[in-house]
Amino acid sequence: MKGLILSGGKGTRLRPLTFTQAKQLVPVANKPVLFYGIEALKEAGIKDIGIVVGDTKDEIEEAVGDGSQWGLRITYIEQDAPLGLAHAVKISEDFLRDEPFVMYLGDNILKSGIKSLVEEFKEKKPNSLILLTEVPDPRLFGVAELKDGKVVRLVEKPKKPMSNLALVGVYMFDFHVFEAVNVINPSWRNELEITDAIQYLVDKGYEVHPHLVSGWWKDTGKIEDILEANRLILESIVGKIQGKVDEASRINGQVIIEEGVVVQNSIIRGPAIIGAETEIINSYIGPSTAIQERCKIIQTEIEHSIVLEGSEIRDVGSRIDESLIGRDVKIYKCPPKPSVYRLIVGDKSEIGIK
Ligand code: G1P
Repeated sequence: MKGLILSGGKGTRLRPLTFTQAKQLVPVANKPVLFYGIEALKEAGIKDIGIVVGDTKDEIEEAVGDGSQWGLRITYIEQDAPLGLAHAVKISEDFLRDEPFVMYLGDNILKSGIKSLVEEFKEKKPNSLILLTEVPDPRLFGVAELKDGKVVRLVEKPKKPMSNLALVGVYMFDFHVFEAVNVINPSWRNELEITDAIQYLVDKGYEVHPHLVSGWWKDTGKIEDILEANRLILESIVGKIQGKVDEASRINGQVIIEEGVVVQNSIIRGPAIIGAETEIINSYIGPSTAIQERCKIIQTEIEHSIVLEGSEIRDVGSRIDESLIGRDVKIYKCPPKPSVYRLIVGDKSEIGIK
């Protein structure tokens, strides 16, 4: 069985981060989202993976390489324009040939991985296996309608959802999917929808098995989802202290402190992760926080947040909460006079002040 990870797209809902970074490389618990997918495929025994890339091809290739860091073989497949998930399958036909495959959306994370699902697919050999989960607002996803446990209808982002079962971004197919992706028409958003391809399989009488996902699943397409995925991943970390923590500091719960980190006179309440070479001085780092490498957090309180590499936060008067701070950002207190805010903020940024 092969793997196909989709890692194109513009990531417009993750701006401003995606002005300078591919959405699949935004880190969750200090690891790019995409790596969770690669590792899930590896864990399921898949060794040959195609990654469909678009505008951010160079960045993705630089981060992932040839796959040898995981002992995998990675092939890059270029998609000229983001014309949909089914289009991505279509252009990957040469890579996939006649082998069954798992298609994994590069911005999705599933708590329990996909090992047992791949086993189920191999054992029962349906033409397709789709993953479903209940969501509060199905209008944001592809939605499935089941009847007597069988898939009868699928609609992409329906205005009036027929159920609360969303399509999770992991799908398994055999070669019949190529028949489907070659006959369906583009949707209103001018994309070849995988949802329509699966509907084609259902209509033609091919076997499409639904599987309800039990653990949590996150599509990290929006900032809130990145923060939530960060919180969920951090819940299962095991603490490890490699940097220097002075006697005046306190570390509670599961906290990963990487090499070269300096913690002075601070409290870190896990689960949290502090990346290499970061300095935490006279500060409070609260639960569900991931600080990447080479940051400086000084005289500041922060929790439920992500801070990307090289950023500096100093002397901020109130606690920072539920924030996502990009790379090489500086946040500091201005001198008392004149009493002003001084802001140099990039496009599509968001700042909340009290
Ligand atoms: C895509 C699929 C949708 C699915 C979702 C899961 O949506 O089209 O059916 O529910 O992924 O992440 P998109 O991310 O393109 O909006």
